[in-house]
Order: sequence, then C-alpha cells, then structure tokens
Amino acid sequence: RVGHRVTTDDGRSFDCPTGDTLLRAALRAGVAATYECNSGGCGTCKYTLSSGSVHQLDPDAPGLTPRDKRKGKMLGCQSIPLTDCEVSLVAGEAWYDGHTPPRHLRAQVTDVASLTHDLREVTLRTDGPADFLPGQFAMLSADAVPVHHGSPGDAPRRLERAYSMSNLPNPQGVWQFQIKRVPNGAVSPIFVDRLAPGDTVTIDGPYGHAHLRSTERDVVVVAGGSGLAPMVSVARGLAARPDAARRRLDFFYGGRGAQDMCAGAFVEEVSAALHSATLVEAVSTPADAADDGWTGPRGYIHELIGFDSLPDLADREIYVAGPPPMTDAVVRMLVLDLGISTDNIHYDKFF
Ligand code: FES
Repeated sequence: RVGHRVTTDDGRSFDCPTGDTLLRAALRAGVAATYECNSGGCGTCKYTLSSGSVHQLDPDAPGLTPRDKRKGKMLGCQSIPLTDCEVSLVAGEAWYDGHTPPRHLRAQVTDVASLTHDLREVTLRTDGPADFLPGQFAMLSADAVPVHHGSPGDAPRRLERAYSMSNLPNPQGVWQFQIKRVPNGAVSPIFVDRLAPGDTVTIDGPYGHAHLRSTERDVVVVAGGSGLAPMVSVARGLAARPDAARRRLDFFYGGRGAQDMCAGAFVEEVSAALHSATLVEAVSTPADAADDGWTGPRGYIHELIGFDSLPDLADREIYVAGPPPMTDAVVRMLVLDLGISTDNIHYDKFF
C-alpha cells in the first residue's frame, strides 16, 4: 500500500502504509516505540509531531490529558499520517529488537467453543506459522463486522478489538482466542454470537509486553474476566519449558459470579508438567446479592494475594491481565503495599 514516510528525531525512518497508524507502522518496521493498549486508552504512545500532518482517529481518546493536548502531544496509536512526517517517539524496550513484528494475517475460523455463558474460545488458522510470545495479544476484525468510513485521509476500516492468544506459538498457524461478550458492545457480540467455522477474520499482531519471561523464577498469574486468555498462554508456556518439572505456578482468577469460573480445566491441563500448580478463584459479587451456590472466596482477587499465601512472592515473576481497574488495583497492591519490584510485574492494560 502506498503511504507516507515517517522520520524520527533520532534519525530512523519507516514507511507508514495508507490507513495504518503511526505506532503500528513503527512496530511493523522494527522501531520499538512505547505502547501498551494500542487503542487510545493508556497514553503510553504519546509523541510530538515536528512536521507534517496526521488524522487522529479519536481526538478525545482518554490517553491524552488536557495538559498533553496543550503541549501538542498526540497518540501514535490514534494517528494516521496524511503527509510525510517528522516525529519524536519515545524509544521502547530493547527486547523488541529481533522479535516478530506485527503483521496483517488472514485467518479462517475452524472452531468456536463455549467456555462459559458469555465466553467463547475461537480457533483460527492462518497459512503461515502462529508467531507470538505467550501472553501477547492481537487486534482482531471480522468480515462480519460492518465497515466504518472515517474522516478524509482515513481509509475505510472495520472496527477491531484487542484479544489475547490463549494457546502457544506453533508452526501450524493455529491461533486461539477467548472472547467475552460485552453487553451492548459493537464488536464482541458479533464475535461471540455470529462467528462460525469458515468465517474469515483478520489478525493484526502480535502486540504486547506482558509475555512470559525466560527467567528461573517461579510464576504467579493474576487474571480477571477476559484477562484469562493471556494468563492461560503464560501458564502453558511455563509448562512447555524444558525445566517445567522444577517450576511452580500459582494461578489467581477473579470473576463476577460463579457462572464465570472456568480456569480450573486450564490449570489442571498444565499441572502434570509442572512441579506444582495451584488455583485460587474468587467471585466479586457479594453473597447477599447472589444465589449462585458459590462456596469459595468472595471479594476482589488481589485481596487473596500476599506473603501469607505466597511467602516468596517477592522472588516470583508476576503476570497480570484483566480490566484496567483490576490491573491497577493488583499492581498498586503489589508495589505500594507489598514492596514488590516493578521489574517482576508484567501487564498490558486494555481499554
Ligand atoms: Fe496508544 Fe495506549 S494510548 S498505546
């Protein structure tokens, strides 16, 4: 696709195909720009435009504060270049070098399975291999989702959403996603209720920093709601390691009610390969508001994590995925209350 040339203030340059965002074009070209959500919510991809012009997909995206706007900051994940541009990007983590850059891939739905009343596991197949790291995500759009015509310079696009892979990378090109129906959502009900084997989906990925690290540490994962998928992938990745028989996994999963609890089968699946795998599940709906037969813990999942239950918590690699308020609460508790090093905590915020 013809597009525009983007030059960074530290002398790098890359092509931005028509309709692609500045952030994604940078990542596709191997330029490690900082980002988290890829969808306008977190503000991590802020940059300054020195020359040229861009179309902003959502000028009111919550990732920019009024102060950012006054200072002329913009979001790379919301900017589509309309001309050649010069920009000042914040350099990302060094790990990105040599990693699989995000690509557009056409995929076919091969299976749709129900995990709970509103959570489906969708299996896709691409022609090439499924290259990603356990814990990463991709942006999905389906042909069943209507095309959205944006502003001038903005190519017609389908609405897309970020979903994490729940399986492991593989040469066969199999991608599995767990997709939760968001009531009144514009995209997820189509994925959950209408996708069927044979349908076509576009995968744009992989993205994300909360991938399984290759350290010797034992692992804690904390998942809430739709954050289950990346944590299942991290658990599977740990179990696939050559030293898996020496590794311990503690899996915490929180949902609204008893009908959301489905992590047990996944933890059971990985437990045979690991030294130990424990599961703690909690539902957040108070007992007096629910008649669901749940006899386990009630409350927010992070309330169950601490040195009492995990005396070596400070020496663990900790992965967190879930709705932003939950992720914030977990990370705040770990860092501020328990003094855990931020180097040991990995998460991507979704909005
Ligand atoms: Fe752009 Fe989050 S706002 S990556």
